[in-house]
Amino acid sequence: MNSDKKNIHNLWPLSIGDFYNYEHPIIKDDLLEFFKSYEKKLPEGNSQLRDEDHVGNYNLYQSNYDLHNESNDILKKLFHYIAKCVLDVSKITNSKSINKLSEDQKKFKVNVKESWFIRYKEGGIVYPHHHDGCSWSCVYYVQVGQNTSKKNGSTYFIRPYNSTSKNDFGSKYLEEDTHIFTAKEGRLLIWPSFLYHGSQPYAGEEKERVIISANLTVDLRD
Ligand SMILES: [Fe+2]
Repeated sequence: MNSDKKNIHNLWPLSIGDFYNYEHPIIKDDLLEFFKSYEKKLPEGNSQLRDEDHVGNYNLYQSNYDLHNESNDILKKLFHYIAKCVLDVSKITNSKSINKLSEDQKKFKVNVKESWFIRYKEGGIVYPHHHDGCSWSCVYYVQVGQNTSKKNGSTYFIRPYNSTSKNDFGSKYLEEDTHIFTAKEGRLLIWPSFLYHGSQPYAGEEKERVIISANLTVDLRD
């Protein structure tokens, strides 16, 4: 009889949620219309764009960081959907801690801390960065334009571990330096906020790319 005891501890899991909002085709035009009128009201965009020393982005329009506070029912519903998806990812990632809670304690509240939209102009780019003061961040693709190839405006994530020997199969899981997700209208990607990410230059072609991004926290209700 084999009496060996075996535990494989999978520490610090790195979850990336990948969702699709089936209501997107219904809400897309209204969202774009709202963003158009938003830009008319605030043509200069958020303070980061006006900061000459900030070189983290190029050739894009970016709203203020309180998009979730706008009085627009479609946006409110969308942020509700985003919060629900974030809770899904958070529950799976924190399952070990959740299993220690009583049934009464398993009640959560999700808060949108910041949210904004970005419109990529010709050559628009966001350099690698991470987000602070929250646990989860996300991108939601509102309009992607015609060219959705990997090299055109895609979101990339940078491996958070040091490089390692790639000669043996044992470190195969660390092989990728970056992971690229292609843009798709209605797609929602959710990742831990500490993870470095950015977006490839977007070649505008006919339509500009428009995304919503947000930072969220998840807490126990009591
Ligand atoms: Fe970001």
